[in-house]
Amino acid sequence: MSAFPNLAPTRVVAPAAATVRSAAAIRDMTYHLHPSSNLAVVQSEGPLVISRGEGVYVYDEGGRRYIEGMAGLWCAGLGFSEKRLAEAAHRQMLELPFYHSFSGKVPAISTELAEQLMGVAPAGLSRVFFANSGSEANDSAVKLVWYYNNALGRPAKKKIISRMRAYHGVTVASGSLTGLAFAHNDWDLPAPRVLHTSTPHYWRGAQPGESEEAYSERLAAELEALILAEGADTVGAFIAEPVMGAGGVIVPPAGYFERVQQVLARHDILFIADEVICGFGRTGQMFGSQTYGIRPDILTCAKMLTSGYQPMSAMMVTPRIFEALLRQSEKLGVFGHGFTYSGHPVPASVALETLAIYRERDIVGHVRAVAPVLQDGLRALADHPLVGEARGIGLIGALELVRDKRERASFDPKMGVGNRVVANAQRRGAIVRSLPGDIIAFSPPLIIEPHEIRELLDAVKGALDDTWAQTRSI
Ligand SMILES: Cc1ncc(COP(=O)(O)O)c(C=O)c1O
Repeated sequence: MSAFPNLAPTRVVAPAAATVRSAAAIRDMTYHLHPSSNLAVVQSEGPLVISRGEGVYVYDEGGRRYIEGMAGLWCAGLGFSEKRLAEAAHRQMLELPFYHSFSGKVPAISTELAEQLMGVAPAGLSRVFFANSGSEANDSAVKLVWYYNNALGRPAKKKIISRMRAYHGVTVASGSLTGLAFAHNDWDLPAPRVLHTSTPHYWRGAQPGESEEAYSERLAAELEALILAEGADTVGAFIAEPVMGAGGVIVPPAGYFERVQQVLARHDILFIADEVICGFGRTGQMFGSQTYGIRPDILTCAKMLTSGYQPMSAMMVTPRIFEALLRQSEKLGVFGHGFTYSGHPVPASVALETLAIYRERDIVGHVRAVAPVLQDGLRALADHPLVGEARGIGLIGALELVRDKRERASFDPKMGVGNRVVANAQRRGAIVRSLPGDIIAFSPPLIIEPHEIRELLDAVKGALDDTWAQTRSI
């Protein structure tokens, strides 16, 4: 039995539309092995085939419009039709479609991006390494912790502490960091040297009468007890998303990260901030680390780095880490880590343009201005009989569905209540996502306007009503 929350998404019970499958859907069902999906459901229901996007909307192949409440996978910050990003890619394809950064060479545009990124990075980070996905960036961070501690002559200091319900990706190392059963079961993960501590979910985890600060103190003490039990000289790093995303949009309780950092400092343990979702404005600051006073030693980001228009991720490090890498690579003759497409010029060009747009349009200021519309709207939905907790910050939020509000009791996962809400919302023209545990997530494009947020919330309110009626009749 896995010790991790076995909160796997369940069957989609109600297909969004009468199942008349298009030729494209049938081709897809014949040839495509889908990522992160219930393969049997895709096989029986067919996929929703999306053919174009405009602003915060996407359109299916039949021309039906959906407001995209998740920016795809938390990534299309600038929406689905930003022409400047397409032009940046086109320009770069004509100028220099590929070059690499191995062995002392570099595409000019990648250098420019490195400099620009360091200009917006949280204080204390000074160098950036490029990869292609969030998983790769986190894998790189794990390897870096190992390499760094070898460089410092501390070969035992290698364990990484992650958290239950964390989502850090699916490759061997990042999938091990992830704290959800679906990423481990039958994948022979987690790999050795990865540990998991408690999820900081105040609404579910606090004891009666316990304040947020006291709860944070208790979790920090638990973390320290784990470090001491393992031996501080065996623990190299702690990894956390500022706001947990795919594990349920879990906003940290007051004082949590401050206390965790005090523990880590006492035992010389690095902090890896996984900003794959929070980076680039999602929480109302450029990085979630800034929102929560995190001073990371390593920071990973991806997704909104290019507004999702091109695959690219980045890992930033402090001068202290860079110096150690420098010395070690001098000793070994090479820094033996990197990808063919590290700093690829086309995504680099798109990322540069994305950063320019964020700056020119003050996207972070826009997030702060419109966030109350989303957050107040979600909290208003907390009165719905299906909703146990509404939570969020900036333009990320969630509704946690419950069978019994007073007891905070979850539904039997087999009922697929979260997926019913998603299907009903889809029928009403809105795309949201059900996370493990019947948690409905919201992470719309950062450019969303107040009337569009209201449209999204109205569709979800209708979907909750539909689902409430359906669950009564089960
Ligand atoms: C916080 C976080 N880290 C890492 C990842 C993995 O990124 P990718 O899917 O690009 O490998 C994700 C993906 O959603 C994520 O949300």
